[in-house]
Amino acid sequence: GEGSLWGARFASGPSPELARLSRSTHFDWQLAAYDIAGSHAHAKALAAAGYLDSEQEQAMHSGLVEVLRRVDSGELQPQPDDEDVHGALESALIGVVGAELGGRLRAGRSRNDQIATLVRMYLLDHAAAIGDLVVDLIDAINAQAEKSGEAILPGRTHLQHAQPVLLAHQLLAHAWPLVRDLERLRDWRVRASTSPYGAGALAGSSLGLDPALVARELGLSRPGENSIDATSSRDVVAEFAWIAAQVGIDLSRFAEELIIWNTREFGFVRLHDAYSTGSSIMPQKKNPDIAELARGKSGRLIGNLTGLLATLKGLPLAYNRDLQEDKEPVFDSVETLEVLLPAFTGMVATLSFDTDRMAELAPMGFSLATDVADWLVRQRVPFREAHEISGALVRLCEQEGLELHEPTDEQYASISAHLTGEVRDVLTIRGSVTSRSGVGGTAPERVAEQRIELTNRVRAL
Ligand code: ARG
Repeated sequence: GEGSLWGARFASGPSPELARLSRSTHFDWQLAAYDIAGSHAHAKALAAAGYLDSEQEQAMHSGLVEVLRRVDSGELQPQPDDEDVHGALESALIGVVGAELGGRLRAGRSRNDQIATLVRMYLLDHAAAIGDLVVDLIDAINAQAEKSGEAILPGRTHLQHAQPVLLAHQLLAHAWPLVRDLERLRDWRVRASTSPYGAGALAGSSLGLDPALVARELGLSRPGENSIDATSSRDVVAEFAWIAAQVGIDLSRFAEELIIWNTREFGFVRLHDAYSTGSSIMPQKKNPDIAELARGKSGRLIGNLTGLLATLKGLPLAYNRDLQEDKEPVFDSVETLEVLLPAFTGMVATLSFDTDRMAELAPMGFSLATDVADWLVRQRVPFREAHEISGALVRLCEQEGLELHEPTDEQYASISAHLTGEVRDVLTIRGSVTSRSGVGGTAPERVAEQRIELTNRVRAL
């Protein structure tokens, strides 16, 4: 019941309004299994310090096993007068092992060090699951890149035709940010693996309990260095929320591109029926809803992060009840990504590209003008002059309605003596792409190496 964890110094029970405001079981019940794992570890620490004999310790472990069984089966549900998961599970344990033994478990721990530990355990598990989903998406992008071979895409800056690139190169450009997100999760994990358990309410335990034992039992790497910091800091939660938001942003950028490519005007890509939606009124419609939801949900992920940061700003040490507000946003970020990523991966894996359409558009907009300038530089013309010569060529072609390779030798010569008919050799899309063979460039052999490097980086994580 409500008063069971702290009722003794109160003459009356909590008002219904307080109880309703204060209650967190509707979201922290998700932490029940972690709470019970924490209790098993804490029982060991109590036994090691001589507060439970071995018979009591065994009875405690069996009681906790039974409580978990009831949680898993759905038999045990939070009651309306349970304030939070910790209280509800303590009541349940007392129901199983009796108040004499069950009432011993809370010695030397607080809900403050418990909750700070449990949220880390939850995030570590879900970070692993989200990491696997991100790997699946990277694999899907890589497979599409491989399948696209040497297909050409009109590369853009400012959404204007810029230079032709391999479609594979552009697809892989969406994979690398996701690789960095995986690396961020790996780095975050080191910080997240600190265990606040044993810090008590804020000042540490006076009972000689071993927090390193608890950390070990919970699969965390070490106890917190400072009990005040351990119970009151949530930067690890905020950092996770940022990584989740960044994954959302990376998906959203790719989504935006697919939405544009999927328009009739572009016509670069077709979505599989199973990963697109129809319109209730316009029978012809096939909409990129997964991409749009990715774009929309990235806003939600950013909101979760900024809401959490606003909650944390300005809190005095140590624990404040405001910190209860850390969980819903970050749980929502986890749930959002766990639903979004598989759908997004399915959409990417089943895309089909109209490579003829892309190849047809690739030379348009004088996208090989830089190749003219680079060709002149290889003839030892200073780049500043080369840029002017190719700019003048673009102007001439625009006036005359020609492509860059179409003027006569005389027309070339009228622009500059450096500009000869030989420049036509580089005025093919293939020649342009192949010439960009510097590290990280779009030349086919560089892109093939890039795909291998991507695979190795992901496998090394
Ligand atoms: N429900 C709280 C939270 O989520 C944990 C319990 C600490 N409560 C307290 N009154 N000290 O942060």
